[in-house]
Amino acid sequence: MSSSSSNVFYFLSFALLLQTAFAVTNPLFHSCSGENFTIHGSYEANLNRLMGFLYHQTPYTGFGLGSTSLGAQYPDQAYGVALCRGDVSSSDCKTCVAEANSYIRQSCPDRKRAMVWYDNCGLKYSDEKFFGQIDNGYKFYMLNTQNVTNPTYFNQKARELLSQLAKEASVAPKMYAAGQLELGGSEKEVVYGMAQCTRDLSDGDCKTCLDRIIGDLPSCCDGKQGGRVVTGSCNIRYEIYPFVKA
Ligand SMILES: *[C@@H]1O[C@H](CO)[C@@H](O)[C@H](O)[C@H]1NC(C)=O
Ligand SMILES: *[C@@H]1O[C@H](CO)[C@@H](O)[C@H](O)[C@H]1NC(C)=O
Repeated sequence: MSSSSSNVFYFLSFALLLQTAFAVTNPLFHSCSGENFTIHGSYEANLNRLMGFLYHQTPYTGFGLGSTSLGAQYPDQAYGVALCRGDVSSSDCKTCVAEANSYIRQSCPDRKRAMVWYDNCGLKYSDEKFFGQIDNGYKFYMLNTQNVTNPTYFNQKARELLSQLAKEASVAPKMYAAGQLELGGSEKEVVYGMAQCTRDLSDGDCKTCLDRIIGDLPSCCDGKQGGRVVTGSCNIRYEIYPFVKA
């Protein structure tokens, strides 16, 4: 992101938005890491500009990526990405990114690295350039505690669906795929799934990232009616009910 008058506009309008009170919902997950930065220092200025940029950029395609440095006298670059789930409208995406920013800046007020995750979006920033690399740092699991009736069969079907979606997502323009699989036989049920990567990854790395987290399912969500694995670069979810817009 280069310095330009439109970026100044982004920042100003975003700063105004942050002053208007709105209810910030709690995320599914957040984490702060890295060193502390100096309040009102150059890293904070860069981070503010980066957040303004991501807020304006992300809703267009559901993905935003940028870095900011306020000229040569301010070397403390901030790098960030924001990602909305592939089916989320651009207005919901915008709301989610604004909430994500407000929440994470309050929760990690002076840390250089952080990630926050909601149903509709996720946001991550760092003082280290991480674009194009699989993130092995942040990971969290969520599950529906209800058991399925036939765990061995169900696990296999959920895995089959997610593996297929991983293949599709890795070559899709939005690096997002959602679908469903009928559970044949006695269980007249359907398993629904989705898989998504941040679009700075190559096709191959997206597939690798997704296959790895599908491999986590036995330890996180064995025999459960729903589960998610989320990392800074890719995420999967399955449920026995539809949870994304077709
Ligand atoms: C960062 O700041 C917090 C308080 O704001 C302090 O507890 C912590 O020790 C600091 N960490 C480092 C690495 O300086
Ligand atoms: C699910 O199954 C596990 C072990 O098979 C059992 O410990 C647990 O109580 C069950 N949970 C529910 C909600 O039925």
